Amino acid sequence: MTLSIRPLNPEFAGKVSGVDITRPLSRYEVDAIEAGMDRYAVLVFHDHRLTDDEQRAFTRNFGSLESSPGGHIATAAERRLPLDMQDASNLDRDQKPLGRDDRRRMFNLGNRLWHSDSSYRAMPAKYSLLSGRIVVERGGHTEFADMRAAYDALDAATKAEIEDLICEHSLMFSRGALGFTELSDAEREMFRPVRQRLVRTHPVSGRRSLFLSAHAGAIVGWPVPEAHAFLRDLVEHATQPRFVYSHKWCQWDLVMWDNRQTMHRVTRFDETQVRDMRRTTVTGDAMTVAQAA
Ligand SMILES: [Fe+2]
Repeated sequence: MTLSIRPLNPEFAGKVSGVDITRPLSRYEVDAIEAGMDRYAVLVFHDHRLTDDEQRAFTRNFGSLESSPGGHIATAAERRLPLDMQDASNLDRDQKPLGRDDRRRMFNLGNRLWHSDSSYRAMPAKYSLLSGRIVVERGGHTEFADMRAAYDALDAATKAEIEDLICEHSLMFSRGALGFTELSDAEREMFRPVRQRLVRTHPVSGRRSLFLSAHAGAIVGWPVPEAHAFLRDLVEHATQPRFVYSHKWCQWDLVMWDNRQTMHRVTRFDETQVRDMRRTTVTGDAMTVAQAA
């Protein structure tokens, strides 16, 4: 088998074949996938029947697993999966879909907004790897937007204006945008905003990208409504169809994306149906900017 990558879209996203990711990889295969991520930012692997441990092992080829609390309102007793595996399903611990009014479901609805995973952490995520264990027949697609192409398409004056801007990111901002504001004091403390640069530079390719996310709710030094309005303008620009790839899931797909170079969102689906998606996350290796004291 020889690993190869075929483009899925003129700008970004590629489909990988010729590798079995349920088994240990060779150095050559790991390097080829990393190089593919640098180029395509989103890679799709079809028909890999991963166990949780195989998914963790594949993920560790690319760095350390993110495994910290602070990403959800679900308590330890409510969690279906351990902390090193993010639960992107619509299920409770009994493998039943969450009720319509369940707080955890309402919180999860934030994933319908364009975002970059863990941009609300001081050390934001590098890669996310999402495995489709049980997929739904209609909807529930994952859409990706290329933040490098979106940056490139900005005019020179806007590029100059945003060059050094710092945003504040928090799960409170993305959930608040949907009207989910009922948080305890402990949850507010857990979701304290962090700072992120608005323009990032990829460490290998050197390409600039917009570090946008629904979690971004303020720009340091700007009046809040002006920051919201401007961030909305940028997200609208960055998610035009020409920058977007929409992934329609088949069972046992694994999709891997670079959170430094893309945003993503899930599309609406019938939440009475079981959708079991499990995500592992490669933690980043540098903050985008020093945090406020
Ligand atoms: Fe996400």
